[in-house]
Amino acid sequence: MRVTVSVIKADIGAIGGHTMPSAEVLGIVRDRVERERKKLLVDFYICHTGDDIAIIMTHTRGKDSPDIHQLAWDAFLKGTDKAKTQGLYGAGQDLLKEAFSGNIRGLGPGSAEVELDERPSEAFMVLLGDKCGPGAFNLPLYLAFADPMYSPGLMLSESLHDGFTFQIMDMDHAEGDRMIVLQAPERLYDIAALLRDTNRYAVEAIWSRKYPNEQAAAVGTTRLRKIAGRYVGKDDPPAVVRVQKIFPATEEFGPAFAVGPFVGGDTRGSHNLPLMPVPMNTSASTFFCCPMVSALGFSMHDGILTAPADLFADPFWSQVRDRIAEKAIEMRRQGFFEPAMLPMSELEYGGIVVRLRKLDPEFAVRDGHGEKAARTEAAITAEDPD
Ligand code: 13P
Ligand code: MG
Ligand code: MG
Repeated sequence: MRVTVSVIKADIGAIGGHTMPSAEVLGIVRDRVERERKKLLVDFYICHTGDDIAIIMTHTRGKDSPDIHQLAWDAFLKGTDKAKTQGLYGAGQDLLKEAFSGNIRGLGPGSAEVELDERPSEAFMVLLGDKCGPGAFNLPLYLAFADPMYSPGLMLSESLHDGFTFQIMDMDHAEGDRMIVLQAPERLYDIAALLRDTNRYAVEAIWSRKYPNEQAAAVGTTRLRKIAGRYVGKDDPPAVVRVQKIFPATEEFGPAFAVGPFVGGDTRGSHNLPLMPVPMNTSASTFFCCPMVSALGFSMHDGILTAPADLFADPFWSQVRDRIAEKAIEMRRQGFFEPAMLPMSELEYGGIVVRLRKLDPEFAVRDGHGEKAARTEAAITAEDPD
């Protein structure tokens, strides 16, 4: 059966700060989706990661279906009404436009969708990030889909041996979002050169090379600040990642997420802290809103979902979390000093820009030191430390 898995996710208000949605708001979103289930969906599941509610849906209408996107939008609108009556913090935070206009992308909520012909045992993960940007998944996805040190299936399975095609989004180009397609392993160094910059580049999709019609992963690359023109909350990406057989095994993603890479996000979306793997339905951390990710493992048949396996809930992860918490505590010791706080290029949508503009007239130019040496191609090559 051809099925689409759509994950649409939004922050529509949280209790006592950017923590978690109320049970009442979650209930209203669930009821609203349930009402439309017969007409539009095969199945659905609702949960939250930090203050973001995720609607995980299966259906047969393909990617970018206006009906499916509208269903999520309407559910979030209804939830927002309730959030306002409860005085929740940031009620409706991610609903940045007045009205639905055909596609949820560009309106605020994050979305990730994969259309697939169901395998006999269709297994996939839903990743849900909070307090981070779309690039937060770059390193784990790179390690699981392109590095045999983490993903031995690339050596051990003929289905994986041809590698994967990476679709990478440039989220910060002057002329708008643009995309590049690079194949691993041949273009590994180029993929690495882009993905290292998690604030600008994000994996948007990954495809099998041996079976080119099989999509392995989809990541939401919505940037709220681009839509709103100012900082209104972090993007908090969702992702759908297919696993097993022709894709990396579920457990090959574990060590990749256990790295806990430093990513942009956390308090005021303006700092770097490590990405903490947490169980589903975890409230955001009072420790500086440390970036977090939960992973739900699903099996699916004829579009019907099992209850999820909570992939970061087994006992092993408590030790991983302790180590990542130490990284976070250490980084926070240096307060606002870079790289604890993001570089100025990443803060340009926030209040510090106003502050710097006010300081500007107090600067005095000193003569004699402003000349820039012209750096020719030859000069740059000569400086190359190798
Ligand atoms: P959210 O994007 O999760 O709402 O977090 C915003 C924030 O600024 C937390 O300090
Ligand atoms: Mg919030
Ligand atoms: Mg959030």
